[in-house]
Amino acid sequence: MTGDDLDEVGRLDRAAFGPWWRGLRGRFAALPRRTHKNLAACREPDPDGCFLAEERGRAVGYVFSRTWGGVGWLGPVGVLPRFQGRGVGKALLQASVDYLRGAGARVIGLETMPRVPANVGFYLRQGFGADMPTLHLARQGASDGERGRRVASAASSRLGRWSQADAVTRARWLDELREATGLILPGLDYSQEVLVTAQHGLAETLVLTAAGLAAGRGVGRAVGLAVVALEGAREGTGDAPAALIALALHPRCTDAADFRLLLEAAEDFARSQGKPGLGVSVNARHVWALSQLLGWGYQVERLMLRMVLEGTDAAPASGECVDLSRWAG
Ligand SMILES: CC(C)(COP(=O)(O)OP(=O)(O)OC[C@H]1O[C@@H](n2cnc3c(N)ncnc32)[C@H](O)[C@@H]1OP(=O)(O)O)[C@@H](O)C(=O)NCCC(=O)NCCS
Repeated sequence: MTGDDLDEVGRLDRAAFGPWWRGLRGRFAALPRRTHKNLAACREPDPDGCFLAEERGRAVGYVFSRTWGGVGWLGPVGVLPRFQGRGVGKALLQASVDYLRGAGARVIGLETMPRVPANVGFYLRQGFGADMPTLHLARQGASDGERGRRVASAASSRLGRWSQADAVTRARWLDELREATGLILPGLDYSQEVLVTAQHGLAETLVLTAAGLAAGRGVGRAVGLAVVALEGAREGTGDAPAALIALALHPRCTDAADFRLLLEAAEDFARSQGKPGLGVSVNARHVWALSQLLGWGYQVERLMLRMVLEGTDAAPASGECVDLSRWAG
């Protein structure tokens, strides 16, 4: 797949997912197109892992692959309805898995809709195990009083914004964050997500620093990040809540206070951009993070099923680590 194919991929995506959308919204509902920026941001981190399937010179299916260092996942993937059931999806899946194996990805997985049995069956037959639900949670806006208290918080000096940092600070942050996320899962690295979403103006990354783990010269070390998407994947979704693409904390700084500080900074940032709230994704194996979110008033809105290719590791570490993300493009 090249950058020139993205309009075609947008058409394929709309046709492939159209029946699912009409099943949800009624038979005349038209699925909004993925934005060009979204498709570009899906392809650019791993262009060699994104494929078009062709039959007689005509594009009939597509797949995107994504590597977050030691975590590799694939999606979205789609095949034109009248070409489904003929092996095209399997070929796309295999091409993506081959790429992810070659890229040294340790975990290879995806997220799919548990309410579509054919998809779950499709992935099971290709060697993916049904792992754990990924829960999407949301909490509608904070009260004015709550907001005021946050602005006054002295802890805000520990927060930085990617868009406002200089090149030296950005490079240092990425090194420090890679080290922090590598302690959650060896090799886990969100750098590409930070860089590509910033380049397309799709997200802001907030960085939490900690003086206790000083980087030197009184500068706090980066111990957490929150990548906050401000634009939806599809056209016409400007009124939707902002989505958290990833939020992770250094395991030695994982306590309720720092988790909440970073999350509230993400919420405040989303609100400052006119968003009605923040959507958060957390895999159910992250029991502690999930219980914190529920305790802070987040509510479960929907769920996806995380599936992991057998033999490529179990999934990110569980327990008390904070690593909120979604493996769905
Ligand atoms: C999911 C999708 C990509 C699959 O592509 P496809 O070209 O139809 O799939 P293939 O023909 O290559 O393979 C289908 C396989 O799934 C299996 N399968 C289908 N339904 C199944 C079910 N309910 N239970 C078990 N296996 C099932 C088939 O038996 C076949 O495997 P086999 O050849 O080993 O027997 C395609 O249907 C699609 O685009 N769907 C709409 C978009 C979408 O939902 N994308 C995925 C989002 S996560």
